[in-house]
Amino acid sequence: MARINDSYLKLKAGYLFPEIARRVRTFAEAHPNAAIIRLGIGDVTEPLPPAIVEAMQRAVGEMSRRESFRGYGPEQGYDFLREAIAEHDFRARGCDISADEVFVSDGSKCDTGNILDIFGIENRVAVQDPVYPVYVDTNVMAGRTGAATPEGRYAGLVYLPCTEANQFSPALPDEPVDLIYLCSPNNPTGTALTKSALQGWVDYARRNDAIILFDAAYEAYITDAEIPHSIYEIPGARDVAIEFRSFSKNAGFTGTRCAYTIVPKTLTGAAADGGRHNIHALWTRRHTTKFNGVSYPVQAGAAAAYSPEGRQQIRELVRFYLENASLLRSGLERAGIQVFGGVNAPYIWLKTPGGQSSWDFFDALLTQAHLVGTPGSGFGSCGEGYFRLSAFNSRQNIEEALARLTKFVG
Ligand code: MLT
Repeated sequence: MARINDSYLKLKAGYLFPEIARRVRTFAEAHPNAAIIRLGIGDVTEPLPPAIVEAMQRAVGEMSRRESFRGYGPEQGYDFLREAIAEHDFRARGCDISADEVFVSDGSKCDTGNILDIFGIENRVAVQDPVYPVYVDTNVMAGRTGAATPEGRYAGLVYLPCTEANQFSPALPDEPVDLIYLCSPNNPTGTALTKSALQGWVDYARRNDAIILFDAAYEAYITDAEIPHSIYEIPGARDVAIEFRSFSKNAGFTGTRCAYTIVPKTLTGAAADGGRHNIHALWTRRHTTKFNGVSYPVQAGAAAAYSPEGRQQIRELVRFYLENASLLRSGLERAGIQVFGGVNAPYIWLKTPGGQSSWDFFDALLTQAHLVGTPGSGFGSCGEGYFRLSAFNSRQNIEEALARLTKFVG
């Protein structure tokens, strides 16, 4: 008898974004003339920067000629890209990260889930609430949790509330944990952890022999000079943290797929017999066994993100989305809505007017204003009564969405 992984049966019905897409599809089919504006999933809308496109085209040209054709590349990524990442994203910020600690992949979503392969089932896992659902669902799939409560919390996970009261910066857990997911700038609240908050987490991890899984996919959106871009800016982090980065949200790679994960060689974890083992070696084993690398043209494009022109074009792209965020933020504030985020992140986290539930607000906004956002409760029980808007869209759509929102709440 072929048995399924019963843990999948514990998962809530659908992953958040497909559920939103389903509701939008149903509405759109019934109202084919509705001009729906989507500010739900954080998917970029602007074309790839020209420097990246040119590098990709050159690489495709190389693949078309026998003398420059390439087959399988190194699973961890080509040296030219790993070197550029280590140099520009880390050493330029004073972080001691070397190219062979960079693992290039096809996405941070995959990496934050796949990393669980190398960690024991008995680890106690802490997640922020609200939280990017992938961290939770992949732990459920791995069998690390019990059933979900009616509020959608899973037994066995330690939830770290992120609320207005703590400015969306979680307090250290009051029970021991072994793996800690932190996302900064945060998806979904759009707020970022300060240096001292991050230092607190690094110190906690060092005291408790824990490992931090630090998701910095939105790092490019940091505007405040005091906010760390990498956890490795914090002294001691090399021994306790893995960092996830992506080209999706800065360079527009959501459809092109390229990301990377940093696993420092100084990071170790305990085996059942108490012996210490190198996490870098385990991840190398896992990555090279289950992954064959990102395509050469895509890596060539990612490397062009570090050329002088590429860096300038990416800065402009990020600035464009941040201006969208700023327009949404100020417009909503003028309309009397309480808003958070949107300064160091492309997400606006708003309090639903009149204390409406997140999904009620979603449905009303969709059916009356033809706007799509993401219900805060879809990210966890502390997200109830909140709503996320993505700033990834054209200027025209952002302005139109704001006009509709203002009318809707007015
Ligand atoms: C989001 O909307 O939360 C993101 O698009 C999710 C992701 O990057 O996978």
